[in-house]
Amino acid sequence: MTAAKRRLGATEFETVPLVFGGNVFGWTADKQTSFALLDRFVERGGSMIDTADVYSAWVGGHKGGESETIIGDWLKRSGKRDQVVIATKVGMLPGEGGEKLAPSRIAAACEASLKRLGTDRIDVYFAHQDDEDTPQQAVLEAFGKLIDAGKVAVIGASNFHAARLKSALDIAREHGLPHYHVLQPEYNLVSRKKFEGELQDLAIEHNIAVTPYYGLASGFLTGKYRSADDMKQSVRGGRMADLIAHKMGVIEAMDAIAEETGATLAQIALAWLAAQPGVTAPIASATSIEQLDDIMGAIDLDLSTDQIDRLTQAGA
Ligand SMILES: NC(=O)c1ccc[n+]([C@@H]2O[C@H](COP(=O)([O-])OP(=O)(O)OC[C@H]3O[C@@H](n4cnc5c(N)ncnc54)[C@H](OP(=O)(O)O)[C@@H]3O)[C@@H](O)[C@H]2O)c1
Repeated sequence: MTAAKRRLGATEFETVPLVFGGNVFGWTADKQTSFALLDRFVERGGSMIDTADVYSAWVGGHKGGESETIIGDWLKRSGKRDQVVIATKVGMLPGEGGEKLAPSRIAAACEASLKRLGTDRIDVYFAHQDDEDTPQQAVLEAFGKLIDAGKVAVIGASNFHAARLKSALDIAREHGLPHYHVLQPEYNLVSRKKFEGELQDLAIEHNIAVTPYYGLASGFLTGKYRSADDMKQSVRGGRMADLIAHKMGVIEAMDAIAEETGATLAQIALAWLAAQPGVTAPIASATSIEQLDDIMGAIDLDLSTDQIDRLTQAGA
């Protein structure tokens, strides 16, 4: 498959409109499955992989860094470092120099991530969340040092509100500091408020690439959770009660479009996202080759304007 690549905002990087979400590596996908998924992703034209130092610290017995370690082992084994764009994040894992975005934390966390990834550079380094306790100038200076040292190519902001992203962009311009080139908000058909409006407008105005997370609403938008019984299917199932109670109208609209196009619901969810103004490439994860093959099919799905509008209205 040769899917059309999109440029990541104003950076040198490109990706097909699907980024592999790496929180599954070492959590819901063991090492061997993770290797097979990564091999398959690249074989099918995928290039950008999203992870974070904190993945998967929420699992009993884990301390964070499990996902990066598996990606690092795979890079070493496959020799594919130059074929992929690696995005990782700092700011949610306590330890290694303090929490959040203190400059010492950023410096120490970057070294730890580089070591686990077994690479000399991170392509996109995200602030995992905003930190109102550390001056934004200090945060950007800390990232700037990493860029100057060649350890980071560009920086991104995840889970930022519009006003804080705007002030960070202003400070970067005023002080000649690096600015955020990529934005990673939560955004999908059933979670719209955090991105649509001011944040979306800001990203478009500044040519900031947008790689939204939870592209499948943790699996709800695949249509596999339709009743309380369905929630037993996966460790993620417990998150579905509210969506099953309030968002089944979206699934019904997706079912109709699946009938018309022959596409699966997962593909429709991701194609809708990829068609939204400002969105470069949605992030989604998969825990089996079948799931991955399914979501990769979204790259080539073109929904009509009418279909996109119907989905937009159903999810409003
Ligand atoms: N910046 C942030 O704060 C933040 C927060 C969360 C996530 N993220 C990023 O976004 C990525 C995606 O998030 P996510 O993995 O939690 O949610 P997601 O992409 O919305 O949902 C993915 C899950 O849905 C299921 N699935 C995938 N394809 C399927 C298919 N074809 N049919 C049926 N089920 C399918 C799988 O779970 P099962 O194993 O349950 O089937 C898979 O792990 C993460 O890996 C991470 O990189 C970022």
